[in-house]
Amino acid sequence: MVELWRAYESAMSGLRPNALPERSPSKDPARSGNVEHSMTDSDFHFYEPRAGHGLPHSPFNAIIAPRPIGWISTRSPGGVLNLAPYSFFNAFNYVPPIIGFASNGAKDSLANAEATGEFCWNLVTGDLAEAMNTTSAEVPAGVDEFALAGLTPAQSRTVSTPHVAGARAVFECRTSDIVPLRSAAGAPTVTTVVFGEVVGVHIDRALLKDGIYQTAAAGPLLRGGGPAAYFTIGEENRLEMRRPPSGQ
Ligand SMILES: Cc1cc2nc3c(=O)[nH]c(=O)nc-3n(C[C@H](O)[C@H](O)[C@H](O)COP(=O)(O)O)c2cc1C
Repeated sequence: MVELWRAYESAMSGLRPNALPERSPSKDPARSGNVEHSMTDSDFHFYEPRAGHGLPHSPFNAIIAPRPIGWISTRSPGGVLNLAPYSFFNAFNYVPPIIGFASNGAKDSLANAEATGEFCWNLVTGDLAEAMNTTSAEVPAGVDEFALAGLTPAQSRTVSTPHVAGARAVFECRTSDIVPLRSAAGAPTVTTVVFGEVVGVHIDRALLKDGIYQTAAAGPLLRGGGPAAYFTIGEENRLEMRRPPSGQ
């Protein structure tokens, strides 16, 4: 398990510098027709991931950032509690609500969510940052990460898996799909995505203003790129923009 994650991280850091030749603008098919670019090739670092990014650290997850953190609690069939953060995490469906996280390698959260058919998502806020980080330690499956991080498990309502007592929002989930990821060529990867239907939602009432959930007030901790970057948000970062009317 640990080896798989290390192998994944090492692949992500692929240090083959500038393995690909720069493209000449005139030969680039993306520049034919009506496609125009205001910048030249020298303004962009281009790479094909299979050949390495040629940078000190992979920019991939720094570009897809900041990401919400899926702080996933599970219980093993033998009853050991498990808790770990997953930033390859998001929401995928409204009705029914479905969320998912990607296990880069065969990890305990994946094994438990598959075996028990349940997991909970716990909102990470600034006050829980250190505890969240502690629960990312690669420890044997028999270690209770709630205890490791000094966290209290709270009884869930619709699933038997407990959630984090201090989390200000929680989704109780039933595992709906387990999807091993393949490359475009159909080759297996180390990654498996776990999807779950949200069957119970807890929200700290202090985060509801006139019944509207206050995203910024919740203060979610978000993952940036690199080994240590995180971000938070505030009302000052808010931008209001409505969708165009239908038919356009
Ligand atoms: C903020 C953060 C985000 C992480 N995101 C992922 C992720 O998306 N996928 C993954 O496999 N590991 C991720 N990890 C590493 C796991 O948390 C770590 O491997 C953990 O030990 C897995 O625990 P488990 O075996 O109990 O599931 C992340 C770690 C941190 C600190």
